Amino acid sequence: MSRLASRTALVTGAASGIGLAVATRFAREGARVVIADRDADAARTAVDRLSAELGEGTAYALTMDISSEPAVEAGYAELAEAGWTPDVVVANAGVQLFGQDAKIADLDLAVWQRTVDVNLTGTMLTVKHAVRAMLASGGGSIILTGSPTGLTGEGNDFTSYSTTKAGIHGLTRTVAAAYAKDGIRVNAVIPGYTETPLVTSISDDPEERAAIVGRIPLGRPGTPADVEGVMVFLASDDAAFATGALFRVDGGMTSL
Ligand SMILES: NC(=O)c1ccc[n+]([C@@H]2O[C@H](COP(=O)([O-])OP(=O)(O)OC[C@H]3O[C@@H](n4cnc5c(N)ncnc54)[C@H](O)[C@@H]3O)[C@@H](O)[C@H]2O)c1
Repeated sequence: MSRLASRTALVTGAASGIGLAVATRFAREGARVVIADRDADAARTAVDRLSAELGEGTAYALTMDISSEPAVEAGYAELAEAGWTPDVVVANAGVQLFGQDAKIADLDLAVWQRTVDVNLTGTMLTVKHAVRAMLASGGGSIILTGSPTGLTGEGNDFTSYSTTKAGIHGLTRTVAAAYAKDGIRVNAVIPGYTETPLVTSISDDPEERAAIVGRIPLGRPGTPADVEGVMVFLASDDAAFATGALFRVDGGMTSL
């Protein structure tokens, strides 16, 4: 378990769900991890837990709202100052405004704007400043978190979320093409229906949950642990020839 020894990895949205699982696994694989989140208390708790398990100096808590460029710029500057400049960045933080995001005829502009600000602009800012840091340090691996709703029309009940995820898939290819020659690899992981706090409001309704699980060929919902392994692969030298790719971890939902 040391596939990421000597790496420093920044994971956004790392205080909960998929980001927390990925950051924890990265640390267990030998990386130093930056737990970046807008929720400062939850980020601190995650760092304390990792430090207790793996030792002081394993994890660093960074409070950062990815939708604000001054905050993202200050976050990367703080890391540089502290000697924690990342060579792996997982741009994972995202929101889905359940009960507010809607089919386009019913979509409130403020809901669209809030979703775009975090999911698309926030991911772009995280990646922009990661690329700047990696151009200075000689390369690295960037991983974005996409969604099946950005691949198909399935997510038409939440227009804003689905559209931002399609944008993230496009951003992955665009940045990968622009910086391949600089040794910066950029890929996206597309988790399927994964039980985390983000989807609890759906999972609480047993009928809705059963309907979703019924569409997953592997016959079960995903867990954050299902996503970790692919992220480790993409962060590591095993994926040295992979860039611009979208990796589906969705139990076959969009492929079979
Ligand atoms: N859970 C799923 O089924 C699923 C499926 C496909 C994609 N995803 C994507 O996976 C990613 C993680 O989702 P999750 O299910 O773990 O959700 P989650 O709600 O458990 O975790 C999201 C984390 O992001 C943080 N966050 C939100 N806005 C932020 C901001 N502006 N700045 C910094 N941090 C912010 C939250 O505080 C939280 O800790 C998201 O991009 C989501 O769209 C999730």
